[in-house]
Amino acid sequence: MNIAVMGYGVVGSGVAELLEKNHDQIVKKSQQDEMRLKYILDRRTFPGDKNESLVVADFEKIISDDSVKIVVETMGGLHPAYEFVLDCLNAGKSVVTSNKELVAEKGCELLKAAKEHNANFLFEASVGGGIPIIRPITQCLAANDIDEIAGILNGTTNFILTMMIKQGMTFEDALRLAQKNGYAERDPSADIQGHDACRKIAILAALCFGKHVYPADIHTEGITEITLADVDYAAAWGGVIKLIARSKKLENGKISAIVSPAFVGYGSQLAGVDDVFNAILVRGDAIGDVVFYGRGAGKLPTASAVVADIIDCAQHMKERKDFGWGEGEEGYVSSYLDIETSLYVRLTSDSKEEVLEQANSVFGGVKALHRDNAPDNEAAFVTPAAAEKELREKLAALTGAKIESVIRITDY
Ligand code: HSE
Repeated sequence: MNIAVMGYGVVGSGVAELLEKNHDQIVKKSQQDEMRLKYILDRRTFPGDKNESLVVADFEKIISDDSVKIVVETMGGLHPAYEFVLDCLNAGKSVVTSNKELVAEKGCELLKAAKEHNANFLFEASVGGGIPIIRPITQCLAANDIDEIAGILNGTTNFILTMMIKQGMTFEDALRLAQKNGYAERDPSADIQGHDACRKIAILAALCFGKHVYPADIHTEGITEITLADVDYAAAWGGVIKLIARSKKLENGKISAIVSPAFVGYGSQLAGVDDVFNAILVRGDAIGDVVFYGRGAGKLPTASAVVADIIDCAQHMKERKDFGWGEGEEGYVSSYLDIETSLYVRLTSDSKEEVLEQANSVFGGVKALHRDNAPDNEAAFVTPAAAEKELREKLAALTGAKIESVIRITDY
C-alpha cells in the first residue's frame, strides 16, 4: 500500500522517520504486504535528505496516482490543506491529519465527504499530540454520557508557564526554548493567545457532545498577560496557573466552552502536569473522572499518533469510521458570561484598604490573598462563585481601583 505525506515539517518528517524505523511491524500491524512512503509534497527542496527523491511540489502527482490509498496531511493551516484533503477524500483516498485548525473548522464537512466516498478521515494527532484521546472518547468511553471535558491542551504554553514558575525564566526566553524544541506552532501566537487550545477543545466538544463547535464561538484568552505576581498569588491561594480549555454540557441542551488561564488547586490532577505534557480530564456518567496524560507536542510523539491512524486506515480500507459528529448550530455555545465561576482579582489602588472593604461588601465577602514583597498599593482577593457577568458588573462598580488581573478559578 502506498502512502503520501503532505508537508515535510516537524510532524511530517517524524512520520517519514517512524514509517522507516518501525517499518516491519507497521506492515505487519497494517495487515498489508507493504507500506511504502511514495511521495512527500512540499514546496521546499531537501538536498541531502534521505527522502529527497520522494519530494514533489505538485499535488496533482498524488491525487492522480491510484496506488496512493492513504494521504497524510501535516501541512498545518487551513489553506490549501482543506482543498487538498477534500480532493483526496472525494477521490476515495483515506486521509490522516494532525491539523487541528482543519479539523476544528471543517471536521463535520470532511467527515461527510469521507462517508460519501467510503474513505476514512482520521485525526488522532490533532489533539494531545501522542496522547490517545480521540479513540478513547469515541470508542472506549462510548457507553458513557460525557458531561464535561477539561484539560491542558497546549504543550508550548504549559512549557512556558512551567519554566516561568519553576525556573524564573522570562516569558520570551521560555517561548524561544519551546520553539527551538519544536513544540510551538509556526506562528507561536496561536499557542500563546490560546487559539491552538481553542481548536483542540472545539474538536473534543464536537466528539463528546455530537455537534460541530466553531472555534469562533469559544471565548479564548491566552497567557501573555500572566505575571509572576499572579503566579505568587496562585501559590498563596493554594495552586498554580494553567491554561485550561474546558467544555460542559448544560441542562438547556447547549454547552459551555472556554479557554483561559485558570487557578488550579494543588489537589487537582491537572496541577502537577508540567513542561510540554498535556492532560485531558473526561467526566462520564459511568466511568467518573478519567485523565489522559502524556506528551502533547513534539515530532515523534505526534508522529506516533499519525502512524497509528495510518495503520488503522490500512486495516479498515473498506470500513468507514463514524464519529457521530453532527452539524453545528447557532447559539449552541452559551456565553461564558452566563457560566458560574469564582474570580481571582489583583488590583492597585491609592486606598487599598477602602477598596478591599468595598469588595467585601459588594461581593458579600472575599478571600484576601497576600504575597511577599507586594507593592504597598497592591491588593488581591478571590470572589465567591456566581455567574461571571454578575461578578464583572460588581468589579466594574469598585471605585478607586485599577484592575490589573482577573483569572478564573477552576473546581477540579
Ligand atoms: N503547538 C502545539 C502545542 C503543538 O504546543 O501543543 C501540538 O499541537
